[in-house]
Amino acid sequence: MAPISLSIRKAVPEDAPTVLALVRSAYRGESSRAGWTTEADLVDDQRIDLEGVLAKINEPFGAVLVAHDATGDMIACCEILKQNDTVGYFGLFAVNPLRQAGGIGRIVLARAEEYAKQTWGLSEMEMSVIWTREELIQYYLRRGYQRTEKKKPFPYDSLVSGKALRDDLYFSVLVKAL
Ligand SMILES: CC(C)(COP(=O)(O)OP(=O)(O)OC[C@H]1O[C@@H](n2cnc3c(N)ncnc32)[C@H](O)[C@@H]1OP(=O)(O)O)[C@@H](O)C(=O)NCCC(=O)NCCS
Repeated sequence: MAPISLSIRKAVPEDAPTVLALVRSAYRGESSRAGWTTEADLVDDQRIDLEGVLAKINEPFGAVLVAHDATGDMIACCEILKQNDTVGYFGLFAVNPLRQAGGIGRIVLARAEEYAKQTWGLSEMEMSVIWTREELIQYYLRRGYQRTEKKKPFPYDSLVSGKALRDDLYFSVLVKAL
């Protein structure tokens, strides 16, 4: 396979509409089924709105990272949020469904971990995954994350223009020492 050429940088407010489209296409709905892992059978909503993306981009103790390919298309993104002096939160992780399973996610995740260490001196990364997504959890375990006993509630009351398709959802929390 040809080496992946990615340009990764911190998002600016002007990136928000493209980030929004990317995240929506990757997480839920029919477009997400082109990827190898999706929430389409768990939640039928829009995942996030423009205001929500802008808030993450403008977050003083956080960053949205965006990855562009050699043609200039935005093909991946993620967010990192400094939770305290040691722990960062990783989320909003999306790769264009048509470009998945080619190593792009692996590069973006590694870059986010580097960013958290270098920018804020963090020593641990935390993330939340819907508990049923075992294939995705296995992916993170292969990246060095560990399961914890910690759970977080699923935001049934604040979904964006839609509804959950199951009533037993919650997030499992994974952690990794950086
Ligand atoms: C999660 C996501 C960002 C990963 O991006 P990606 O570019 O596909 O990731 P990579 O190419 O680095 O890795 C793909 C992995 O999937 C594995 N994989 C491919 N097809 C698979 C399948 N059908 N079942 C299980 N694993 C599969 C590959 O083996 C590879 O893992 P490995 O590198 O450990 O061998 C991307 O799938 C995505 O956007 N998903 C939808 C949004 C989402 O769920 N985000 C995370 C929320 S916590």
